[in-house]
Amino acid sequence: MQISAKEFQQRRQHLMALMGENSVAILPAAPVRTRNRDVDHPYRQDSDFYYLSGFTEPQAVMVLKPGRKHGEFILFCRERDPERELWDGYITGPERAGELFGADDAFPINDINDILPGLIEGCDKVYYSMGSNQDFDNKVMSWIKVIRSKVRNGAQPPNEFMVLDHFLHDLRLYKSKKEVQLMKQAGKISAEAHVMGMRACRAGLWEYQLEGVYLNHFIQNGCRSSAYPSIVGGGVNACTLHYIENQDKLREGDLVLVDAGCEYQYYAADITRTYPVSGVFSPEQKVLYQMVLDAQAAAIKQVKPGSHWDQPHQAAIEVITQGLLDIGILKGRLSDLVAKEAYKPYYMHKTGHWLGLDVHDVGEYKVGGEWRLLEPGMVLTVEPGIYIAPNAKGIAKKWRGIGIRIEDDVLVTKEGCEILTDQVPKEIDAIEQLMSDRSG
Ligand code: GLY
Ligand code: MN
Ligand code: MN
Repeated sequence: MQISAKEFQQRRQHLMALMGENSVAILPAAPVRTRNRDVDHPYRQDSDFYYLSGFTEPQAVMVLKPGRKHGEFILFCRERDPERELWDGYITGPERAGELFGADDAFPINDINDILPGLIEGCDKVYYSMGSNQDFDNKVMSWIKVIRSKVRNGAQPPNEFMVLDHFLHDLRLYKSKKEVQLMKQAGKISAEAHVMGMRACRAGLWEYQLEGVYLNHFIQNGCRSSAYPSIVGGGVNACTLHYIENQDKLREGDLVLVDAGCEYQYYAADITRTYPVSGVFSPEQKVLYQMVLDAQAAAIKQVKPGSHWDQPHQAAIEVITQGLLDIGILKGRLSDLVAKEAYKPYYMHKTGHWLGLDVHDVGEYKVGGEWRLLEPGMVLTVEPGIYIAPNAKGIAKKWRGIGIRIEDDVLVTKEGCEILTDQVPKEIDAIEQLMSDRSG
């Protein structure tokens, strides 16, 4: 189950059609990042670079030049080196880049300063993702300087520098059949991990041990990494939105919030479930949990072609505000409370984001100043929550220190939507039932 060479080629072609004639796009591979001293972080290719090439090695630059006679896709990459390969493993090398990755031309990365100015020269527009990689910005400027230094000899520097993101990220927003298949697989593996987490959960376990259940399932299923650092927050830790320390003991009577998803073939899943450590919800936990679940259902109902991006969020806000009114945490009229965002101390984030090669995937949320309309092929998360801080003022003690989020990945379809992560239960009864079957 992989993206085919043909699909990578189609993506490049789509992008080049949007760029138009007399233009060139330049994309750098992700840099290698040091973890400590001489140990690097595991390498992960930049998502834009991967999307257009499937090439997963560092120290590479891809160039797309629509209409170039000698080929439109040029790849600069590391040269083969038996000595280095003995230590660090396989290197594709320019001589194999054509056959394996469809490059029309390939050169050693060490020759880029001599060759790239010549590829840019004479183009009107240069597309690149400016401002996201300072080193690369400097390099592009140095190549332009080389061209400018030769204007008296007839060299033509480019006239316009264009942000590549607009076209490229719009393409990435619409998932192909194959991408949807991969995202379904990412969703399935992650959902299974959540079921295993619910089964393994018990008081006395460390949060990181529960995290280990998820990571093990990811890795056993071909996902060498999660798509983002997992959040495993027991009790009040669930009220810290980006809690990733995962270092406390799970306690009887608390809920645990687990936000964990795998990366499968470069595609992310992003699931949150919140469940009782003991396997049974307390009455207060039930009330708040059901509120979040109802908010999620209302939001998912809005995920359909023609809805705009913010409609699911608005639906979730209404349900949560009404719920907080019903239990006396908020007081006043629903419409006033919504208008003045009275829910914000307890629900401070948005209801979702695009999902794809990146967990917070690319793609614009507004177009021409208006919320974007949802269209088939887009994938987003729907993840409302309620977080009552342990020191929340003017709120009965019984509600404090409870944090709940429920998150699923949803594909917009022609008819409405499809939930990619529904293999893990979220109804109160279903969670309690599943957890009651735990052994030991
Ligand atoms: N896991 C990050 C998020 O839910 O947005
Ligand atoms: Mn998310
Ligand atoms: Mn998440």
